[in-house]
Amino acid sequence: MTKLPGNAGVSLLGDKSLEFYRDPVSFCQQRIEKHRSRMFLCRLMNRPTAFICSVQGMRELLCEKSSLFLKDPTDLMTNIIFNLSINFPFPTPHALNTKSVYTAFKSLGTELVLGLFLNVRAEKQPELFQEISQLCTQHWHGLISAPVNVKVPMWSSGFSIALDARNKLMDIIKDKLENDKEGFVGSLGSLPLPDSSSAAQHLLLFISALIPKALASLLTSFTLALARRQAAEDPDYLCRVLLEVQRLWPPFIGGRRIADQDSTLMGFHVPKDFGVIYISHAVHRDPEVFQEPDAFLPERWSGRNEGHEHFLCSFGNGPRSCIGAKLTNVFLKEACVYLLNNFDWCLDPPVQNLEYKWLPVSRPANPPTVTFTQRDHTLSVYFCEGF
Ligand code: HEM
Repeated sequence: MTKLPGNAGVSLLGDKSLEFYRDPVSFCQQRIEKHRSRMFLCRLMNRPTAFICSVQGMRELLCEKSSLFLKDPTDLMTNIIFNLSINFPFPTPHALNTKSVYTAFKSLGTELVLGLFLNVRAEKQPELFQEISQLCTQHWHGLISAPVNVKVPMWSSGFSIALDARNKLMDIIKDKLENDKEGFVGSLGSLPLPDSSSAAQHLLLFISALIPKALASLLTSFTLALARRQAAEDPDYLCRVLLEVQRLWPPFIGGRRIADQDSTLMGFHVPKDFGVIYISHAVHRDPEVFQEPDAFLPERWSGRNEGHEHFLCSFGNGPRSCIGAKLTNVFLKEACVYLLNNFDWCLDPPVQNLEYKWLPVSRPANPPTVTFTQRDHTLSVYFCEGF
């Protein structure tokens, strides 16, 4: 058993959380180079934490040894089966062109989650829709204003606004669960869940600003990737583009576990109670699996990386992976096919700084602006089966 390279330093003083949150990508790159290892040790959230930046390490952590590394208890949703019929609230060229493309896609994501999970549609109940959207934003801003690992004092104004917003959202959600018998909220309300608040808490997670932001992140990256490089009019190509988009620009930087007992990962000793964090940005650039890891090469998914989708972790991996991944893929496929069928687009102005920020949800740091023009419908139509 080999000792992990790097060190966890002393309590508090050795903590690297701030450095990590400032620029998680450089943080990992520097240490991968320094230790010549895609797994290393640091102190994060004041806990010795193993960083995993390789496909093999991610697979061991999330799949083969998932029972040894625990997640905070979350949900019961994996057992809920539901049928959904989705009417996507697609934007008009006007809506797309009036603001930054990320903002437009975020609005689209908000319409999707509120329609799907709460039966609240912008066109039917504009005031309620507006109220919930604003509360979700306040809730989110309060949450990200709080340091993740520190108990937050109640005087923190951002945090108390978030708490207030959360309480109001919970009131709306509970009212919906009691009185709305239709759709997802209706099915959830009728389930015999163990305690009365769990359905409401799940709905709060599903409608939170996090999911529209993650959707907007992927759709923005998709739009920019194609704006920089014209896609061939080939149905399978779109599927490969979407895989390559989530490989290069995963919306979330990764996920965290706590070692439940002494164990090993990639042959390195990981003691009980150590944190372990997988960094999807770095895992997806593991040169052992992905040749030319920084290049946008959709073709890799029909060549060397064909059948390697399980080496990605944008939606986690293994038994605790995202329960919304399939739904998200249905939505992304629909949205991208719609965009490809109906619009041509280009960066406007053509030269913009597209450098990404990675936290809390990845996206270009300066919101890019893109011009969409209606496509001539006599042209061929994109279609992507089975993504
Ligand atoms: C682009 C959209 C989304 C992305 C990128 C995403 C990403 C993720 C990731 C990375 C994890 C695993 C975290 C970890 O390993 O600790 C996760 C878990 C989860 N996601 Fe998503 N997600 C998305 C959409 C959704 C949607 C639409 C839902 C709701 C239906 C959802 C519900 C959940 C739940 C409940 C878990 C926890 C599963 C568990 O712990 O067993 N997600 N998601």
